[in-house]
Amino acid sequence: MIRRYDFGQPIQTGAIANPVPACTDEMPRFTVTRSGESITYTVRLGEDDLIFGLGENVRGINKRGHIYRAWNSDDFSHTENKSSLYASHNLVLFSGATGVFGAYFDDPGEVFFDLGYTSGDTASITSVNGNLTVYVLEGDTLIGLVKEFRHLIGQSYVPPKWGLGYIQSRWGYSSDEELRKVVREHRDRRIPLDMMSMDIDYMEAYKDFTWNHNNFPDLPGLIAELKADHIRVVPIIDAGIKEEVGDPAYDEGVEKDYFCKKADGELFVGAVWPGRAVFPDFLKEDVRKWFGGLYRPLLEAGVEAFWNDMNEPALFYSTEGLEEAFRKADALRGQNLDIHTAFALKDAFNNMANSMDDYRRFYHEVDGKLVRHDKVHNLYGAMMTKASAQGMKDFAPEKRHLLFSRASFVGAHRDGGVWQGDNSSWWGHILMNLKQMPSLNMVGFLYAGADLGGFSCNTTEDLLQRWLQLGVFTPLMRNHSADGTRVQEIYRFRNWEAMRDTLTVRYALIPYLYSEVMKAAVKNDMMFRPLAFDYPRDDEACRTEDQILLGDGCMIAPVYEQNARGRHVYLPEDMLLVRFRTWADYDLVPMKKGHHWVKLAMNEFPLFIRRGHVIPLARTAQYVEAIDASQLTLLGWLDKGTAITLYDDDGVSAQFDLNAGLTVIDVQVRDGKAAAKAEGRTVDASRIVIG
Ligand code: GLC
Repeated sequence: MIRRYDFGQPIQTGAIANPVPACTDEMPRFTVTRSGESITYTVRLGEDDLIFGLGENVRGINKRGHIYRAWNSDDFSHTENKSSLYASHNLVLFSGATGVFGAYFDDPGEVFFDLGYTSGDTASITSVNGNLTVYVLEGDTLIGLVKEFRHLIGQSYVPPKWGLGYIQSRWGYSSDEELRKVVREHRDRRIPLDMMSMDIDYMEAYKDFTWNHNNFPDLPGLIAELKADHIRVVPIIDAGIKEEVGDPAYDEGVEKDYFCKKADGELFVGAVWPGRAVFPDFLKEDVRKWFGGLYRPLLEAGVEAFWNDMNEPALFYSTEGLEEAFRKADALRGQNLDIHTAFALKDAFNNMANSMDDYRRFYHEVDGKLVRHDKVHNLYGAMMTKASAQGMKDFAPEKRHLLFSRASFVGAHRDGGVWQGDNSSWWGHILMNLKQMPSLNMVGFLYAGADLGGFSCNTTEDLLQRWLQLGVFTPLMRNHSADGTRVQEIYRFRNWEAMRDTLTVRYALIPYLYSEVMKAAVKNDMMFRPLAFDYPRDDEACRTEDQILLGDGCMIAPVYEQNARGRHVYLPEDMLLVRFRTWADYDLVPMKKGHHWVKLAMNEFPLFIRRGHVIPLARTAQYVEAIDASQLTLLGWLDKGTAITLYDDDGVSAQFDLNAGLTVIDVQVRDGKAAAKAEGRTVDASRIVIG
């Protein structure tokens, strides 16, 4: 059951797709207190209560014990002490002695989630502005709460099937020759590949909607050539438009009054990659329509996929911020600085980026009224995503589009996916990648994944290998790294063949993974779940942070420690270990419920299949469109018959019908042997373990 409570004058965020009427009775579960403009919602926590949610954020799957902040932040150092990353996904779910319940705080401004941090037995959620709608969710199970919430916020974005292919990316690829070379290295070595990202280097001086004609003399030709090789390019688009007279996007935006302004009516100018830039007011519909239309020349050139970036929005500095820092420096010039003053001087420059002062300097027009940016900050990226999704739909309404963004808010899950931002080549970030997957699913983001191998810092061969072994399962599978860091394309490493073998498993699993994404989208379900969702009475399962469930039938548990040759795994029930080396070479080990040490050599990684379930493997391929899902091999551990439903379609049509695309694979067990059949498919059941 969902109950809605309005406070102050809520701003429409677009998060809700299926509205419910407001209640006037007292809000259940939470105590509401006000202080000035802010409102705090408090709930007492039982000793063993668990807290889930908050989508893309740091720390545990169980969020208890820390303080988080809804404030979309461009932060490239994802350390434990942080309280926000690029997204605000204000859903919290509580599970404990008093049952399960949750709340969604539909507030586009700053919200603090103190989940047992200040006081271990209390969770308090504070809306700084006090203008919001709170949805209280009550039900019997955690998954039930999520499904109701997902219905409220509307069906998740579904990517084209080829969007599940492997993407090679790097900030720094700066010419058509370089892209061709990277593609050739993959194809020659038979490393599967479907997409190549183009980072800001394809642009002319980092200006949106331009491309560098010297380095990319014939972009449409290059796109067509790569497409013929079954590779799609994925260009980046940033939120800020370079402040430059003569730049068509700038000129038109100025003429039509599309950019955010300060209180004095002047344009707000902040610096990002192109230098001084202005910021489209994405909160206005006509601006979104215009911005979406700017994608058209690239779409006409053959582009079918984009990634939107810097849309928190990131600000390296503003005119005013820079001026202020220089003023401080000038005032101190020639003085003998004590240590405190010297540090303060350094901070004056360091703190110029993404400063609250700047976010308070400019305005949006919402329903004809000016609203200061900080009051609606967390919507900016979502509204950019909405603009680009619309632009792509207008261009090709019959086709699905591929789109993922860095910043997001609930609502953007209907328009695109997310990548998990500028992580680092740290072992702990494999684990962070894993932990964010179920939390992102709770708020509707299914097409998600992290920069495999790590974005900042220098990767190591084994880190990339182990990270790919997790990436095999995430819908968005992209190897991306920062300019200046160690190169990390698979083929750069001594062990590239083992990594290629890992990718072959991904491609063999795509019919299954695609089916799980589509079913989760249509049924408002979670493709990835914390163990607590399926085993609520098993305390060990409820507190497991390094294993998650995948689909109905599987559990994943990646290795995330350097030099490890295995890992500890807790099985909440009997499961079949599939120890993969390649798509066609794996061990099948039935394992009993309980604790196990699972040996995993560098080239091996596990998939656990719950006893009684089966999953299909196709023949692997070099690109998604070459996967033949009409011949499947089933893996599982059965003592009696079972069935699975697999969804499939053409993978590109915007309109699809879940029921029409479902095939039932029926498995019979007789005389110690399994046999399977499915309409229109050949199914090999000989690898199913019986017992
Ligand atoms: C941001 C993005 C990163 C990209 C870089 C350059 O840091 O998060 O993915 O490579 O900008 O465009």
